[in-house]
Amino acid sequence: MIVNTELEQKGNLFPSAIKTYEKDVDTLYFTTENNVILQLTVIRDSVIRFRYSTTGKFENDFSYGITIHASRGYNFLEISENETHYIITTSKLICKVEKISLQVSLYDAVDLKLINEDEIGFHWEESYEFGGDIVKMSKICQKSESFYGLGDKPVSVNMKGKRFENWVTDSYAFGKDTDPIYKAIPFYTAIQDNKSYGIFFDNTFKTHFDFAQERRNVTSFWAQGGEMNYYFIYGPKMEDVVANYTDLTGKPHALPPLWALGFHQCKWSYYPESNVKEVTKTFRDLKIPCDAIYLDIDYMDGFRCFTWDKNHFPDPKRMVKELENDGFKTVVIIDPGIKIDLEYDVFKEALDKDYFCKRADGPYMKGKVWPGECYFPDYTKPEVREWWSGLFKELIEEIGVKGVWNDMNEPAVMEVPNKSFPDDVRHDYDGNPCSHRKAHNVYGMQMARATYHGLKKYAYPKRPFVITRAAYSGTQRYTSTWMGDNIATWEHLWIANVQAQRMAMSGFSFAGSDIGGFAEQPQGELFARWIQLGVFHAFCRVHSSGDHGDQEPWVFGDEITDIVRKFVEIRYQLLPYLYTAFWSYINNGTPILKSLVLFDQEDPHTHYRSDEFVYGDKILVCPILEANAKGRRMYIPRGIWYNFWTNEVVEGGKEMWVDADLDSMPIFIKEGAVIPKYPVQQYVDEKKFDKITLDVYYKNGKEKSQLYDDAHDGYDYKKGRYSLRTFKVTGKKEEFILQQHKQGKFDANYKEFHIIFHNLPFKITSIQIDNVEIDFSHLKNTKTKSIIINKEFTEIHLSGK
Ligand code: GLC
Repeated sequence: MIVNTELEQKGNLFPSAIKTYEKDVDTLYFTTENNVILQLTVIRDSVIRFRYSTTGKFENDFSYGITIHASRGYNFLEISENETHYIITTSKLICKVEKISLQVSLYDAVDLKLINEDEIGFHWEESYEFGGDIVKMSKICQKSESFYGLGDKPVSVNMKGKRFENWVTDSYAFGKDTDPIYKAIPFYTAIQDNKSYGIFFDNTFKTHFDFAQERRNVTSFWAQGGEMNYYFIYGPKMEDVVANYTDLTGKPHALPPLWALGFHQCKWSYYPESNVKEVTKTFRDLKIPCDAIYLDIDYMDGFRCFTWDKNHFPDPKRMVKELENDGFKTVVIIDPGIKIDLEYDVFKEALDKDYFCKRADGPYMKGKVWPGECYFPDYTKPEVREWWSGLFKELIEEIGVKGVWNDMNEPAVMEVPNKSFPDDVRHDYDGNPCSHRKAHNVYGMQMARATYHGLKKYAYPKRPFVITRAAYSGTQRYTSTWMGDNIATWEHLWIANVQAQRMAMSGFSFAGSDIGGFAEQPQGELFARWIQLGVFHAFCRVHSSGDHGDQEPWVFGDEITDIVRKFVEIRYQLLPYLYTAFWSYINNGTPILKSLVLFDQEDPHTHYRSDEFVYGDKILVCPILEANAKGRRMYIPRGIWYNFWTNEVVEGGKEMWVDADLDSMPIFIKEGAVIPKYPVQQYVDEKKFDKITLDVYYKNGKEKSQLYDDAHDGYDYKKGRYSLRTFKVTGKKEEFILQQHKQGKFDANYKEFHIIFHNLPFKITSIQIDNVEIDFSHLKNTKTKSIIINKEFTEIHLSGK
């Protein structure tokens, strides 16, 4: 008999011995004597789905999390049995199902080592209050096992020893360890014995995860209803686990327009129009690059979505156009609460069409948000999403707004204890009617989805840009996200760093924090340090509540303004590098930020690091997280790195002190990297340039880098009008070769590369470009070795002594 505090609670039920087994192509059904069914589906060689029913019948198989585009298919599948187990073998995994208990264990098909095994495995409790089951799973936690992921949890990157809940919640001024907050991403990755696997528990009810907190050798997860339905994803590389999870739940449907990767400025709220203009003009006057300006709720007429306050914004179309002429894209907020007002057409139409959520016994779900009493559209109904998408026609097509910011979509309700709908509210759930207990975690996701489709339609042929606060697994297909209402404190800078890393390893790379902090006002030093971190997040936006003072880059004095400019300029220079990382994310599911464990899991020193991360695949960053710092200690992952500022060579695999006064931060470039850089612009595509820079870092050995490019907006890239340049470097003691291979039909405006060779260990005696010797006498006495050449070169060969 297994003793377990969780199980000691009365009422846990367990599967008994397997009675029958059936197979349907890649799906196996194991039925026990007490009518529990395990439906096991081989999705890919490294992905197996486990689904349990306690009633002998499954619910309709429907998921908002899994994308229809998920890859399926395996190279090898064999099913066998022995006295005690059924054995399912793919080219990557061996899965054993125990006949007497239905317990599962998983092994690496190559070295036959154990990856993960059930402790009690599946068990459940009947839910007297609501009906159905509270479904539970427990697994053995290996001694050296570590856990990562789970979306936006504001805790150290490694979650071992902690317990969490997933229930999207409006969490104004949350803190370290606050749980739950805005997102519900029931996916984690684990690593033990250098093997990484992941578990995606695709259940939208309130879910719980325990990473060896209650018992040191057990990891468990459970939900307040629905099915035990999880995907086991094997690596053994963590990066492949995350890529496979991202494949299952979806990559963004399109690249963002490049401007969306620029710098964004936001505040609650910029109004009237003259204030907006003053802010945008100051950016241009002070030459701080910026691409987007946000309008928070005060642009509306009495907080009615899809309306304008005509006193403050008499002619939105003209204003948006004027901002656009100056390189600013306007992004506006849209919340789900629709003001109860029979004179308001959006409300009236939704009421007439019966699109609002209702309580179990029939009345509409009424709740207070910014406009006062509101009703809320049921975005889980396809017809409602379609209607909602249509509402964006005027805003996008007529007025010219370029992006929409969905907020309060947990949904947040004011002045009620649970900050949201009561449990009994009914939802369509795409034809699977249910209560709010099941729909809560996907409500915001479905709102963002409907918004995305509206923008996609009316922004066409340009790409849409959406941002959401609430999210469930898969939301990354439609939108970017931010972390909600943080605070202007040093602790929150730490939180912003771990959250962005955690989101990236939870399949959601297009994420960032409110730079500087939403609540309260930062000191200039904190603001500068936050900008330094923020420019390395895919979504880079300053936002504040405005209650405690301004938060534009220039309000903290000239020194801070200069530091902000310097770092925002670095972001703009690195845009081609970020765009390439984004392309790799949407193509291969590769996270844009890599926590050190994800970058080098074989080095156990990385397993507990939270501060350092790799941006893209070649730039190591570590923010300064303390006041008055002149630098910090940090861990440099294995390999050779170059200090970005000084080119000093650093050998990794150790902790070290790195100098970083307020105008600097620790940044390192991986040896062998080819880093593309644009000239500084005040906004994306402000200028047409004739050349871009490639910073090439010497390596004794080989290294590959890529550069993706396209028209920076629109969909032509999907028809082959993109260019993907692969750079291979090969370095020897007295030789260095840079080769280029180009794919795709796109031709950028620029004609040349300005190639800068860093840290060549020899004196150049000859340079050949595509086998033709060139004159390099001008380089003889220069410290920086650089050449300007036609961008279509195939090979540069440097020899020296
Ligand atoms: C919420 C949002 C915040 C926004 C405010 C007013 O608190 O999280 O970003 O500024 O509402 O719309």
